[in-house]
Amino acid sequence: MKTLAINGGTPVFSPAQTFAPWPPVYAETGDKLREIYMSANWSFYGPVEGDFEKKFAAYHTAEYGIFMANGTTTLECALAALGIGPGDEVIVPSWTWMATAMAPLYLGATPVFADGEKDTFCLDPAAFEAAITPRTKAVIPVHLFGSMADMEKICAIAAKHGIAVIEDCAHAHGGKWQGKGVGSMGQVGSFSFQQTKIMTSGEGGLCTTSDPELFETISRLKHIGYAPGKKRGEVAGGPPAAGLLCHNYRATEFQAQILLDQLEHLEADTIFRAENAGYLRQKLEAIPGIKVQAPGRCATMQSYYVFGLTVDPEVLKAGLTKADVIKAVNAEGANEVFGGWGAVTYEQNLWNVSPEKYRVASAATVREIIQNRIILLGIQWLMSDRTALDKLVEAFTKVMKVYSK
Ligand SMILES: Cc1ncc(COP(=O)(O)O)c(C=O)c1O
Repeated sequence: MKTLAINGGTPVFSPAQTFAPWPPVYAETGDKLREIYMSANWSFYGPVEGDFEKKFAAYHTAEYGIFMANGTTTLECALAALGIGPGDEVIVPSWTWMATAMAPLYLGATPVFADGEKDTFCLDPAAFEAAITPRTKAVIPVHLFGSMADMEKICAIAAKHGIAVIEDCAHAHGGKWQGKGVGSMGQVGSFSFQQTKIMTSGEGGLCTTSDPELFETISRLKHIGYAPGKKRGEVAGGPPAAGLLCHNYRATEFQAQILLDQLEHLEADTIFRAENAGYLRQKLEAIPGIKVQAPGRCATMQSYYVFGLTVDPEVLKAGLTKADVIKAVNAEGANEVFGGWGAVTYEQNLWNVSPEKYRVASAATVREIIQNRIILLGIQWLMSDRTALDKLVEAFTKVMKVYSK
């Protein structure tokens, strides 16, 4: 058995694996950004913003796109446009980034946490249904990491109970399900373009919808009450509905240009990542004790933000945990192998919400995965060549051989 690098052996990667910085940059985008700068037309529905909204929505088979400041404001506006407020409950996954659960709180509504599935980690339809009460007004399934929530079942349950569906697609740009884009299966889709995301302009977000009334309301919520497409000073379309509390959640032409150019690469890159994910899945699952996050059951195109795998704690020698596996694989020079957010949503280290403001319906499955099993690989791995992937598999194989009973 080879000595692990963490114990002084020769690392699998020598030198350590390095990656091009994320996101990729395109020289032609730099030229276009300069043009926008020189035009002095930087916000308020410039031509690039409108173009990006239309093309991004069309790619995801939705009628309308509303470009915004980030992927938290999108969730908040989606809920607000659906009329959700104090006294209402919104079901969210027990495992997501906390923004999914903060959005209902901003509106005075109550997030209710429901468990995830053990293979996809996404919201479990049965746990969702069990968490419904007469106060439930919406559900926010999240397409987490490298999987898709079971939208077929979730939408059917929601329809049966008269509950609105907002798809949190912050990890899923480019994903398709039976020909429909993510973000087009519920009433509203929400995307984030934050620095680490599949498509990014540093910050940014976008709502997709095919409902003209929701489009109108979300547009007004984003742009301090103006009707869709109306610039500063143009009041055509009249004021917003009485009592609709509108914001400045606008984004800029610069961001729209960066994203418009990235959209050109989305399909090819999504396919490339999915093929690499399939390759890694097959190789990693040959290692006893390793299982990979299952892609969405009906995903015709699974989009990957990060690649999730699990280590069975039962196969590890006494005293060893998945944290030791992560440390040892990184010591082999792998890099970008990490443990995830480390906690269920309402126990993440920035969560400071008092317990009477939310309710935990169920969380046991994902809590156990987070504590004992999950390992994530950064998106750069899925953009790597097969030589790098083979070495990564070699590093996991080496570590698991030494660390297994
Ligand atoms: C699942 C999920 N939802 C929502 C968000 C919020 O997006 P933003 O950071 O753009 O506000 C994020 C992450 O950043 C996320 O991971």
